[in-house]
Amino acid sequence: MPRRKALFFKKKDMFATKKGIESRGGGRYNRNEKTAGGYDGMDVRALIRKMTLEEKAGLCSGLDSWHTKPVGRLGVPSVMVSDGPHGLRKQVGEGANDSIRAVCFPTGCAMAASFDRSLFERLGDALGRECRAEGVAVVLGPAINIKRSPLCGRNFEYLSEDPYLAGEEAAAYVAAVQRHDVGVSVKHFALNNQEHRRMSQSSEADERTMREIYLAAFETVVKKAKPWTLMCAYNRINGVLASENHWLLTDVLRNEWGFDGYVMSDWGAVGNRVKGLSAGLELEMPSSGGVRDEQIVSAVRSGELDEAVLDCACERMLAVHARYLGNGEPAESWDREADDALSGELAEACMVLLKNAGVLPLDKGARVAFIGEFAKEPRFQGGGSSHINAAKITSALDAAKEIPNVRYARGFSIERDETTGEWLRDAADAAANAQVAVVFAGLPDAYECEGYDRAHMRLPDCQNRLIETVAAANPNTVVVLQNGSPVEMPWISRVKGVLEAYLSGQASGRAVVRILFGDANPSGRLPETFPKKLEDNPSYLFFGGDDRKTEYREGAFVGYRYYDKKKMDVLFPFGHGLSYTTFAYGNLSLDKREMDDSGTLTVTVDVTNTAERSGSEVVQLYVADVESTAIRPVRELKGFETVALEPGETKTVSFALDGRAFAYYETRLHDWHVESGEFMIQIGRSSRDIVLEAAATVRSTREIPVTFDENSILMDVLASEKGKRRAEHGMPDILQAMREFSENDDETETAREAITQEMSDAMLNYMPLRAVFSFSPGKVTKERLDEAIRDLNE
Ligand code: BGC
Repeated sequence: MPRRKALFFKKKDMFATKKGIESRGGGRYNRNEKTAGGYDGMDVRALIRKMTLEEKAGLCSGLDSWHTKPVGRLGVPSVMVSDGPHGLRKQVGEGANDSIRAVCFPTGCAMAASFDRSLFERLGDALGRECRAEGVAVVLGPAINIKRSPLCGRNFEYLSEDPYLAGEEAAAYVAAVQRHDVGVSVKHFALNNQEHRRMSQSSEADERTMREIYLAAFETVVKKAKPWTLMCAYNRINGVLASENHWLLTDVLRNEWGFDGYVMSDWGAVGNRVKGLSAGLELEMPSSGGVRDEQIVSAVRSGELDEAVLDCACERMLAVHARYLGNGEPAESWDREADDALSGELAEACMVLLKNAGVLPLDKGARVAFIGEFAKEPRFQGGGSSHINAAKITSALDAAKEIPNVRYARGFSIERDETTGEWLRDAADAAANAQVAVVFAGLPDAYECEGYDRAHMRLPDCQNRLIETVAAANPNTVVVLQNGSPVEMPWISRVKGVLEAYLSGQASGRAVVRILFGDANPSGRLPETFPKKLEDNPSYLFFGGDDRKTEYREGAFVGYRYYDKKKMDVLFPFGHGLSYTTFAYGNLSLDKREMDDSGTLTVTVDVTNTAERSGSEVVQLYVADVESTAIRPVRELKGFETVALEPGETKTVSFALDGRAFAYYETRLHDWHVESGEFMIQIGRSSRDIVLEAAATVRSTREIPVTFDENSILMDVLASEKGKRRAEHGMPDILQAMREFSENDDETETAREAITQEMSDAMLNYMPLRAVFSFSPGKVTKERLDEAIRDLNE
């Protein structure tokens, strides 16, 4: 695929100085106003009644890049929003990264691999505290778009190819941040799965695909954690800008899911402001310099926009402001050292040991070569709006300082796809003289960044060459990867170990060294499939789209849902990850074998640590529909729990599955639906390694309404309970006439060969009711068929 270079969205122009912020308030805004005569505790509607039209319009657009507009006259202060989500990027200066020194925690791609809600809670808790202490009302994250293709430039910020995992993890994070009376902005709502033409292209997906894959994680977060705000995406969805999409922002988000916060635009995502407001976009960010305020005001004056819509938007904005301000002045403080320690702890739990042919963990006394510039200059986060001004960076070399016999060789340059004969010779020499060679490889910043997509799924050629060279010099070669999304591994069979470190924050070097040398036991699991090559990815043919739209033609078959259905060989499956210990599973038990779709099935399973080291196992629960008329994936993740186990210890893990765990999205109902029948509850080490399973029958309490007409085929009439009952009692004459035709009573062998019984049966099954006139002429009148159809539909 040709590399499509997109213009990087420069935010520099939008950054306001502190001075600018204060002066642009026109002298009316004073930070202390928020408590003096403030509106918290006051009736928000009464306050809105006192506001002028201009003040109301102003409340719905930014003051600058990072603040909402105050209404000084009425004591409504400005509040600040800041990027995250893996650290606080509180902007203080004009430069693109003039943000306060903060702690860079593991990015979304890494955190997702923890499969651990409690770690998301700890991250959210730290962020909430930092925001409170720094006067930030809303942190702009988490970013939970689905990783549709390994090429998306922002994959490193996103969590997973699986909406259940992404939704559960993000909900834990959101709840924890908001416990500090600080809001989040869950982004980018929705179908923002590529960077190419991100501000204009239309993501085109069908209803079921959207519901099952691209909206489901947002749904979980909204329902479970009640985020204060959501950020709408830049792109269009089936032709309509997300920022103007009434169906998305109002019908689905508010009316169906019960969202009670406000929606803000992604930075510059607004098209028609008046349309947006009516669609459910309350806040435009950043400031439009007053242009949009005027548009809103004149739309109300001309009658194009009902003022009640604006009032409602103001009410939603003020209600969220009040949640932040209601707590008074920020009272919390935060500790960089403590958060750095947390960052390292989280990183350790995120890394995924992909391969280990007995080479890891390393002996601290062994001669070890650390090869590759990433050992010294780690890549631990990605470029763009989420870039944290990291207070302290620990590289693997820093972290290995105390370990004797670690020799470093540069190997390649992270600035360019470049190595030299000398670097390669030096690397081969270091490898040959070591007992184990560890190559630190990964994607340099230019390969993976917000604003444009990756051009391919490979590591830079210089790194692949280096790995081959090192592996040829030392059979005990381990590769440590620092990347936000899958890479191809042409050298996989020539190395003994691979540790996927992802982009795991400023302390990543510490975590890598602790895992390599066995001070920590790896427990991360892949939140995405690593295909063997890019061309295997289900979106490959259509990713990026044309100059207007991207068609999501693979439908709901994203990630493992596709690879598993195709029985395709993958490099590493979804959910895969190794440990230095081993785990055994037993006693899978279901509290019932049958239930209806309003019930809850409780599943328990025992997990035992069967070796000598303590470690954590991620227990994954998948549900497989044994037989279904809807086209469905082989299995889908519906539960996961991480358990820490001492050697020999056994714990029982429990899951509660409700109807939704068995459902697919039925477009005839525009709702989730369980098709009655048998389901397998599968416990797996990955989507490809199912260790235990048990069957349960789930009955639907809802029939899909069907209306029959003369084009309905016999098979469909007989498939529904009602159709079958009525057809057999109400139209035996018609059934008889149709069946007679299919009776294969041909005398000769040749005739029987020409039209087999199977063919006759199939003909009958697929026959529309009207065919009775063609194949059994004269037996049934038109009036009789019409009457029978009326009866079927009653
Ligand atoms: C990004 C958002 C970000 C915003 C503010 C946009 O370009 O898409 O994720 O929160 O900028 O920096």
